[in-house]
Amino acid sequence: MKKLGILCSGGDSQGMNACIKTIVNCCHHAGITPVGIYYGYEGLLSSSFKEISNEEVASIGLLGGTYLKTSRCPEFFDIKNVEIGANNLKKARIDALVVIGGNGSYKGAYDLQKFGVSLICIPGTIDNDLFYTDMSLGFDTAVSNAVWAVDNIKQSMFSNNRVLVVKVMGRKCGHIALHVATVCNASSLVVLECPKQLTDIIKDVKNALELGVVSPVVVMNESVPFSLDEVKDAIEKALDIEVRCSELGYIQRGGTPSVKDRQLAIMWGVSAVECFKKGEFGIALGYTNHQVRRVPLEEAIHSEDVFDQELYQHFLALHQK
Ligand code: F6P
Repeated sequence: MKKLGILCSGGDSQGMNACIKTIVNCCHHAGITPVGIYYGYEGLLSSSFKEISNEEVASIGLLGGTYLKTSRCPEFFDIKNVEIGANNLKKARIDALVVIGGNGSYKGAYDLQKFGVSLICIPGTIDNDLFYTDMSLGFDTAVSNAVWAVDNIKQSMFSNNRVLVVKVMGRKCGHIALHVATVCNASSLVVLECPKQLTDIIKDVKNALELGVVSPVVVMNESVPFSLDEVKDAIEKALDIEVRCSELGYIQRGGTPSVKDRQLAIMWGVSAVECFKKGEFGIALGYTNHQVRRVPLEEAIHSEDVFDQELYQHFLALHQK
């Protein structure tokens, strides 16, 4: 029987489990043995492999996190270790590997190919920073979780006429921040893609107060060069208004995947097993213009950064006087 390995790597994201379950189910239907590789590339190096039954994944589809566990594995940047990983797969007679993860995980997959491993990659990261695809697993749910949190905090801020400064995840990518800021009608968006000084943030908040916004919200990506406290102090000093800060953190990364993330998980899981059956390797699955795409892994890795300019323009238009 042919064997298909599955591993998750990097930060977990909502939809990974639904995707694992789909791949496992499709493998069993097709007479393929699905093999779980536990703890990402760490597990590849230590041969933490185990065949997965349909029964054990029956109820994981609605859970956040990853059943297969994950890791950040700096050892895998060393090409000698990549070769060890490839040899471990050969020893276990695993014919191909599905990697679910973000850009660091894709880089590891790309290197594994150099040692003859057949690869299929699925985008799994809340950051949505794999730019060849419109969406990655977890992004939609992470944005919804953040919107829920900001909406709740805003109600409290309103009671004291306070300004809220909120920090969201995304590494260097401002997609989560942009979506949250737009949906929550924030008054200021601070992301690396559209750099701002503290004086610009103060101007945004002042503008909002003049427009009659009682509790303006500032949404910041986690990699911008200001701390929450620096922003708070600057606003309080300049505008004589109370500010409260909140770093949303891991609330964004947990919980039941949204409908969109579950759909993507299922479509990509089915497609991955189709690719395996057809012998289509060295590819990354994506979703563009409402369709599943298969993109050469090399192209996926080298895709240029894009920021959603259209949504950004709409966000800005919300604040024009
Ligand atoms: O890449 C996903 C992500 O949640 C980022 O948004 C965040 O910066 C990072 O992971 C945190 O990683 P870790 O949980 O490994 O500290």
